[in-house]
Formats: sequence, structure tokens, C-alpha cells
Amino acid sequence: MKALVLAGGSGTRLRPLTYVMPKQLVPVAGEPLLFHTMRNLHQIGVRDVAVVVGDWHAEIADALGDGRRFGLRITYLRQDRPRGLAHCVLLARPFLGADDFVMCLGDNFLPDGIGDLAADFAQRRPAAQIAVRAVDDPRAFGVAETDGSGVVRRLVEKPAEPAGNLAVLGVYFFTEAIHEAVERIRPGARGELEITDAVQLLVTAGATVRASEYAGYWADVGRIEDVLRCNRHALDQVKPELLGEVDDASETVGAVALAPGARLVRSRVEGPAIIGPGAAIVDSKVGPNVVIGSECTIQATRLGDCVVLDGGRMTGLISDPQPLPPEGERRDD
Ligand code: TTP
Repeated sequence: MKALVLAGGSGTRLRPLTYVMPKQLVPVAGEPLLFHTMRNLHQIGVRDVAVVVGDWHAEIADALGDGRRFGLRITYLRQDRPRGLAHCVLLARPFLGADDFVMCLGDNFLPDGIGDLAADFAQRRPAAQIAVRAVDDPRAFGVAETDGSGVVRRLVEKPAEPAGNLAVLGVYFFTEAIHEAVERIRPGARGELEITDAVQLLVTAGATVRASEYAGYWADVGRIEDVLRCNRHALDQVKPELLGEVDDASETVGAVALAPGARLVRSRVEGPAIIGPGAAIVDSKVGPNVVIGSECTIQATRLGDCVVLDGGRMTGLISDPQPLPPEGERRDD
């Protein structure tokens, strides 16, 4: 089985962050989102991966390299502009050949892996398998209508009046049957080639399309609050590990993961917290719920509930939320 990872797109909802980095490299638990995806793929036995890239191709290729560090072989496919998820399949046809493949959206965070989904596909091997999750409000997602036994009857992209609550998440398993479907569809209302249209074509043609319910943690990292939510989830799993230096005047409380080369100088870090490699925390109070990127310098600063990007520098900053004083009362501080 091969893999196709979609890391192009425009990331408009994640501005202003996506003015300086692609959303697929946004840090979650101190690592770019795509690193988690690559590990998930290696875990299910994939070795050959094509990554679709857009304007950020150089940055993404720089971060992932040839894939060796993940035990993978990565090929990059340049998409000239975001033309839709199905366009990515079209672009990857020469790479994919007649092989089965898993297609992962590069902005989805699935820290529990995709092993169950892969096993389900391997066992039943339908023409296509989508991953779904029941959500309260599915209007922002592709929605799958099933017959109750997991066979998909209809797929609708972002319906105004959803006929069910099964949202489609960003992991698809395909046999080569998808290629013909992708060649036959035309751009939809957004001007893009929609993968839901191609999958719907398979359904209409009588091919078996199954929905596999995903039980693990899932987040679609589209907006800034999703970045914080994913990091909060990752922080809940952090195990205390002090691989960096802690001087005598510093202390850590709770689950603090201090990476090699990180330093605490006259500081207090309250977990859960992840401090990246080479970061220096000096005369500061940090945490809880903080992820500090690699090579950051945090000096004379107090911060909690935040993510600091790699190389960030903060001096003399107090970012604890301050309650507003009651109306008419003087503040003396
Ligand atoms: P989306 O989140 O649907 O699109 P986007 O990245 O353009 O974001 P926004 O809506 O905020 O502008 O894309 C899902 C994933 O697929 C994401 O990792 C980007 C990728 N993608 C491509 O690689 N090529 C494409 O043509 C599209 C539409 C998305």
C-alpha cells in the first residue's frame, strides 16, 4: 500500500499564522503536524509516500526530507494551485499506479494512529473506504449517509441540511477504482475537483464504498483554536522527562518534558509542559499547558496556556490572564 499526503492548499482560515508557515508544519506537541502523519503511515506498513505541495514546497521538503528519518521514501508532487483533493489524486496517478493507497489530509491530527482503519480496509477491501465520526454539527464537513451496516449510500459535501451526523475525516483508503472516477468528475461549486464527487460516482456505479467509524482522537487543524486544542490534548499525554539542564535555583512541577539541550535557569516550570531542544528559560515562570518550541529564549517572563513557535524570543512579558477589576474599583498594581 502506498500513501498520498495532501500538504498544498491555502490555509486561509489559519491566517495570520499561515503567512509565515504552512499549516501542515504548525507544531503540535513540539513537532510539525506532518511528522505525526508520517509516523502513522509507517506504523501501518506504508513505505512509499507522495506528498502534494503548493507554494510552501521548499519548507515542507526541508522539514520532511527524503523521509528516511521516518523509515519512508518520500516523493514530492507540485500542485500549481489548490485545485481540490481529487485533483491531487489525478496528479499522483503515475506515482500510485495500480496500487491500493491511503490518502491523508496533511492538516488532520490523529495521535492514536490509523491502524484500526487500515485493518478494516485490509479485511474487507471495498473499492473505497472513508473514515467517519459522529459529530453534533456536521454542516462544515463532508457527510456520509450509510445503510446502517457501514455501506455508504450517499456523500454530500458541507450540506446545509445534513441527512445524518457522520462527518468524513481526512483519511481515505482507495483501490485503483478511484482513478477512473476522478477522471470523470468536473469542478464543483468551489471550482475544485471534489473527492466526495469522485467517491459518490463509485457509489452510483454500484462499487462498494464503506464508512469506517474512527474511535481515536481526531482534529482537523483548520483554525487557530484547533492548534491550541490539539496541543492541549497532546499535553494531557505528556510524560515527565528531564533530558535538559535544570540548575539548582530552578524547579519543575508535574509532567514536564524538557528536551535535550534545553536549560532552566532560576525558573519554575509547571506541567503539563513541553520545552523543545535548545530552549532557554531564564528567570521565568512557565506553565501550565505550555509548549515551547526549539531554540526559544524565554527571559523574565510569565506565561501559561500557549504555544511558542520555534526560535521565539520573549523578554519581560507577563501573559497570565488578568481578571478585570470590579467596576469603579481602583487597581493599585
Ligand atoms: P482544506 O482545509 O480543505 O483547504 P485549505 O488548506 O486550502 O484551507 P482553507 O480552507 O483554510 O483555505 O485542505 C485540506 C488539506 O488538503 C490541507 O492539508 C491542504 C490540502 N490540499 C491540497 O493539498 N490541495 C488542494 O487542492 C486542496 C484544496 C487542499
